[in-house]
Amino acid sequence: MEISKDALRPLNEADSLTRHETESRVPGKRLSRRQYIKYAGALVAGAAVGAAATYYGLREPSPATQTVTQTVPATFTETLGCTASLRAAAEANGLLIGSEADETSFEDTRFAPVLAREFNSLTPGWEMKWGQVDRRGYGPADALVKLASDHQMKVRGHCLIWHTNLPAWVNSQMPADELRLAMQKHIREEVAHYRGKVYAWDVVNEAVDDREGLRKTVFLEKLGEGYIAEAFQLAHESDPDALLFYNDYDAEAAGSDRYWSRKSDRVYELVRKLVADGVPIHAVGLQMHLMAWDYPKPEDIAANVRRLAALGLKVAITEMDVRIKDLPGSLLERLGVQRRVYYDVIAACLKESAFMGITFWGFTDAHSWINEPGRWGPDYPLLFDENYQPKPAYWGVMDALLGR
Ligand code: XIL
Repeated sequence: MEISKDALRPLNEADSLTRHETESRVPGKRLSRRQYIKYAGALVAGAAVGAAATYYGLREPSPATQTVTQTVPATFTETLGCTASLRAAAEANGLLIGSEADETSFEDTRFAPVLAREFNSLTPGWEMKWGQVDRRGYGPADALVKLASDHQMKVRGHCLIWHTNLPAWVNSQMPADELRLAMQKHIREEVAHYRGKVYAWDVVNEAVDDREGLRKTVFLEKLGEGYIAEAFQLAHESDPDALLFYNDYDAEAAGSDRYWSRKSDRVYELVRKLVADGVPIHAVGLQMHLMAWDYPKPEDIAANVRRLAALGLKVAITEMDVRIKDLPGSLLERLGVQRRVYYDVIAACLKESAFMGITFWGFTDAHSWINEPGRWGPDYPLLFDENYQPKPAYWGVMDALLGR
């Protein structure tokens, strides 16, 4: 595959993640991706976690392997040169299991083989965003799409309309009619470019405000709330076969008095109206960036999936990771809690028939956005440690997929 090595991207100041606005962020810090990796590498106390997780992982009972190999065609396991994987377990149950990947991760030669072995769906984490496409064209994302197709993986398109990582010329100085034309052109061209290659699109990402109403974006300000319906309409016209998602965070769970339930209600209300108005929306993506010390109850997540399903929508987990930094206890204990969070949430979702599958926001702690400078690391949010050894969390996901 061709993944360009010079693709160093600066940390975009606009890359804010609103849920965590109040958490530590390094203002004005700009580092290249190569520096990120170095930085994360230095921060992650590799050997300790690696050894602990490997130890813990290896003590897992082997029936997972046996069960999976019984249900997976020999050609599959031969092709991948392994006997068990999340991919095999998911495919045995007709599920999609995916990971985010961006081009810089592939500079680490350990990344691609594990990605292709474990997952049947790939989400480009960066390369399809408007700002990137505007700056660099489709080449970088095309390379990821080719890699996916070479390994019989599907591709989730992420994301067409988002308040951040926009081209610099898309701003509030722009007259409304120009913005509308630019949005139309962007969606039409990108969706048409990937027609037949991308099975689903996050058409609108994070449009609901954390506190009330819709997020105050340039789109809302200039085009009014109709921009959301218009974006879905444009995407649908450009690829009538693509599954179109509204995607958001802290919108996972219904029915509690926590802030995430109030945001979940607002997302529900938004998509309910879109459906009622006949807008071509097909699914809701629950990002699922969780903190193991404070996260929604699995039964509340299931209730949310059910009410969305009752609108005729599908639901997927689209960006799951589970931070453990602020948990009490030893690292092994914290990894055990992380395993339980992954298991409980995924097992609850899998019971719902409208639930399509899970995408994790990366799979190895060696490459997680959580550890990017100015975010919340160092942490160990994913399924494999930074030495590509499966963590307890991996076996938690495996157990959930196998219905154990
Ligand atoms: C993140 C990428 O993973 C980072 O590399 C980048 O610096 C910022 O964006 N929700 C989303 C994703 O919908 O697009 C974000 O991806 C993570 C949060």
